[in-house]
Amino acid sequence: MPTVEYLSYEVIKKNGWEVRDPENFEKAKELELNGESYGSFEMDENEYVLDAAEDAGLTPFHECRMGTCATCAAVLVEGEMDMDVPPILSPDEEDAGFRLTCIGTPESDELKLVFGAKDHDDLDII
Ligand code: FES
Repeated sequence: MPTVEYLSYEVIKKNGWEVRDPENFEKAKELELNGESYGSFEMDENEYVLDAAEDAGLTPFHECRMGTCATCAAVLVEGEMDMDVPPILSPDEEDAGFRLTCIGTPESDELKLVFGAKDHDDLDII
């Protein structure tokens, strides 16, 4: 059963951290962050990450739930994620780690994701 370790982009911004640094997750643990800020949950491999996050009690940003608005964008820091339909993300945005959680399913047993990344400067869609 895949495990998602998540961190909020708000925490990254507040601390001035580099969004793709895997060390952020250790730092968040040391700061004893929890709730929407930092934590982990298990999910079914065929489930969408956004749905699984909501089932875990989180409230990530979202609008269309169809892969057309990028409001649900997260940054994939570690692991692999597949997206169901051709995403509206550019190749550069995908290379930068952006993934749409509403159409994204895990392709690895462990994912490290930064939720709430829709306002990141490298994401041009919104
Ligand atoms: S909620 Fe619109 S792309 Fe995911």
